[in-house]
Amino acid sequence: MKTVPLTGLHVNLALDGLILATAWLHVALAPYTKVEESFNLHAVHDVLMYGFGKDSLKNHDHNIFPGAVPRTFIGSIFLSWISTPPLQFASHLGLIENKFHIQVIVRITLAALNTLGLCLVRRAVSNRFGRSMGIYYTVLTCSQFHLPFWMGRTVPNMFALFLVNISTYILLNRAPHSRKPSSTQNSLAISILTFAAAVFRGELALYLAPLCLQALLNHSISLPTLLKTGIISGLLSAALTISVDTYFWNAPTPLWPELQGILFNVLQGKSADWGVSPPHTYFTSFLPKLLLSGIPLSLIGMWKDPRIRDPLYPAWSFVGLMSLLGHKEWRFIIYVVPIFNIAGAGGLSFFFAVPKKSRWGPISFLLGTALILVNLAITLFSTFVSTANYPGGAALQQFHSLYNPHTTKSPVHVHISNLAAQTGASLFTQIYSQPQWDGIGDRNVNWVYNKTEGLSLAELTGYSSPFTHLIVEELPPKSVLRRRGWKVVRAVRAYGGVNLRLEVLEESVRSVLKDPSLVYSAFEGLKGVVNVRREEKLWILERIE
Ligand SMILES: *[C@@H]1O[C@H](CO)[C@@H](O)[C@H](O)[C@H]1NC(C)=O
Ligand SMILES: *[C@@H]1O[C@H](CO)[C@@H](O)[C@H](O)[C@H]1NC(C)=O
Repeated sequence: MKTVPLTGLHVNLALDGLILATAWLHVALAPYTKVEESFNLHAVHDVLMYGFGKDSLKNHDHNIFPGAVPRTFIGSIFLSWISTPPLQFASHLGLIENKFHIQVIVRITLAALNTLGLCLVRRAVSNRFGRSMGIYYTVLTCSQFHLPFWMGRTVPNMFALFLVNISTYILLNRAPHSRKPSSTQNSLAISILTFAAAVFRGELALYLAPLCLQALLNHSISLPTLLKTGIISGLLSAALTISVDTYFWNAPTPLWPELQGILFNVLQGKSADWGVSPPHTYFTSFLPKLLLSGIPLSLIGMWKDPRIRDPLYPAWSFVGLMSLLGHKEWRFIIYVVPIFNIAGAGGLSFFFAVPKKSRWGPISFLLGTALILVNLAITLFSTFVSTANYPGGAALQQFHSLYNPHTTKSPVHVHISNLAAQTGASLFTQIYSQPQWDGIGDRNVNWVYNKTEGLSLAELTGYSSPFTHLIVEELPPKSVLRRRGWKVVRAVRAYGGVNLRLEVLEESVRSVLKDPSLVYSAFEGLKGVVNVRREEKLWILERIE
């Protein structure tokens, strides 16, 4: 039999492929988007569809529905720019039938970009800590839920995360025994982080500061160099975001969205309006949720290998400093996941490196495997739940299976409720509206998808309302519907919660204890323990006369 020798190149390609496949699978399973993503997603939509000449800006979504604070366009412009070649290629192959396919390709492109960031970190880990650590790192990352799930989602944190990864790569990519990064490595990493903090996510300043302090303390950068790097990169980043965003928001005075966001949220204390969590929340709730079994693993990794501790000091300080702010979200600290996973890989290598023949070998191998399997089980479950969690996207998909321009001759004017708009009914899913991208879709069909907020039931269903169809989140009383000439066409079901049915578990255990030969059917029965409820969330209504 001929065997192909497994080279380092094969292993690297397989690992990178695994990461890409994981990220793309998450996009394919949950192609719809949530409200957090909509600013950047719609900005990509508008840049692709309208361009950004002075005249086309007035059509942009952000001018019609501005949010609470302006946000930067730089990430979206970059994403539409790098998505254009894949879009043209897919369109050439005839893969794009409507706008929704464009959304999927844009998200796939973003996921590929983020995979690139991850692969660089993996390579640096392999170089510094050895090949097997690179493998553990990949396996651990792919087994977790949040990062891979969010890698293809257009939130500013993901744009920033790419830059944080690049900086981690730069700092870490050195020989196993070098004690500290060089001054050039430090300056480069610090400039990139400054850009990420100034343009995308201000909270990264709290990561940057401990990192600079660490570099100063271990003499890997001098104070004058640090100051020069910081000031130059800060000024350049500010100039870029101010010039681009002042133009896009058509602001009368120079606009720096991220700075304005910080002033609004932190200094005026507005973020507290979104809710305040106790100081320990990041440590007791969000880090465990993000890392799953990566938590015990990274503690072991840190204890085992002193080299692993260096990149973690700024990460711990960052989470500590962020804990001082009242409002907390897991997205605010996602940047430390790749860094903790480096330590987690160290933990895995602790379990897997024990020789199999030794007394502890098999046990420690089993333990390491079990920790990964726990992650996988949680990830499978979360993925399953999240695929059902986009009622707005599902509603528009069902709407288009009920009505299309061939069967529905009169112009359609459908109102989309707030819940639907926030759970997947993005501009890309409004496939029969103008504008259409580059020869895709019919230019003579122009349905109106109206997401005007705050309309009363009378304004929606009254005789003088302009709507032909409604997607509502509260079903009006039957009598009102009948009187005003509307009918319910379809109820859209979506995720409504989880029921734990412990009595099913008890029953299985009891039946096996009575008759061990029933173990297989008892195992089958376990599926009923966790019951995911689907509930009617949205209704599609049609005017009948
Ligand atoms: C950064 O790296 C992590 C893991 O190291 C990966 O999951 C993530 O997608 C990367 N993010 C970006 C934006 O490249
Ligand atoms: C959307 O509905 C509102 C309220 O009826 C209406 O004022 C507005 O003109 C509609 N938008 C379009 C584009 O028709």
